[in-house]
Amino acid sequence: MRRHWQKKPLLVSQAIPQFAPPVLRAELFALAAEEAVESRLVQLVKGAWKLRHGPFARRALPALQQPDWTLLVQGVDLHNDAVHALMQQFRFVPEARLDDLMISYASNGGGVGPHFDSYDVFLLQAHGKRRWRIGRQKDLSLREDIPLKVLANFEPEEEFVLEPGDMLYLPPRYAHDGIAEGECMTYSIGFRAPARAELAQELLARLAEDAADDDNISLYRDAGQAAVAQPAAIPLALQDFAREALSRALAHPLVLERALGEYLTEPKASVWFEPGDAGVMLEGVRLDRRSRMMYDAQHIFINGESYRAAGRDATLMRRLADDRRLAARDLVRASDDALELLSSWCDAGWAHVWTE
Ligand code: SIN
Ligand code: CO
Repeated sequence: MRRHWQKKPLLVSQAIPQFAPPVLRAELFALAAEEAVESRLVQLVKGAWKLRHGPFARRALPALQQPDWTLLVQGVDLHNDAVHALMQQFRFVPEARLDDLMISYASNGGGVGPHFDSYDVFLLQAHGKRRWRIGRQKDLSLREDIPLKVLANFEPEEEFVLEPGDMLYLPPRYAHDGIAEGECMTYSIGFRAPARAELAQELLARLAEDAADDDNISLYRDAGQAAVAQPAAIPLALQDFAREALSRALAHPLVLERALGEYLTEPKASVWFEPGDAGVMLEGVRLDRRSRMMYDAQHIFINGESYRAAGRDATLMRRLADDRRLAARDLVRASDDALELLSSWCDAGWAHVWTE
């Protein structure tokens, strides 16, 4: 983290020795056929780039022997427990920054063209070989004639051939081009970083909701208002009142922290939970792979909801968020309220009964 994170690439030979990828070709193709799964097909046909969006029936994919195509399947961690578990190995980075695990399948020669991404990425080679060319790239202009974000003037500086278990870390905006040498699968562990403007928009919308719920109506008063000759001019005192209204909404203790935690743990739009195993207690629990759970000094957040927590229960819930599971022995000292909450999360399918 100190030397490379957000700074410079890192090649890790045999990051995972004897890596046995949890999802292979047939399962990936099956995922790409599903409506709820985001997938893309990138193909180079007679020198022309083509992009199509899934879902793809198996027969809609090119033949395996046909060169130069790539199938990309997004968010596989939401659909497969073993892939979710693999992604947990990257939680040396705060979970608030983790996004998803994408898997690509490429036939010989396949790739998505030289490009850069806005976010950090770990490219873990899962099957076969891929030749990566990378560069710092000052000129980020893109080709305008094609449906993909491909650099117009890629200037690679380094080249590596990755084999299964090898991994390449790239910081944001580092140019790269990976070309399959034979049949190839690459797992991309992707990150997210909120954009300042988007965060302001999200948080202000949540603060606005809180403000709307505030029953304490205090109207603007202007007992000191003099008669005016320019009636269209907005009074300065009204501008001050507006500014104060906003700063009061923000100054409410913990509103910002709460809104941020709720926003960061909001499930992705495609996620739904199946109501599940009711009646946990005194057995352990584990979070569903789709659940997002985080905390700050005063709150516990799960799937867009927040709870104030303190004392022993807070310690327990933080442990659940960090480890994503609690054993039966951890629950012995939990309060009735905490147990009830865990049980309601199990009902909702956010967590499941778990025995060691
Ligand atoms: C791929 O796996 O083919 C593309 C991954 C990337 O370049 O970000
Ligand atoms: Co990329």
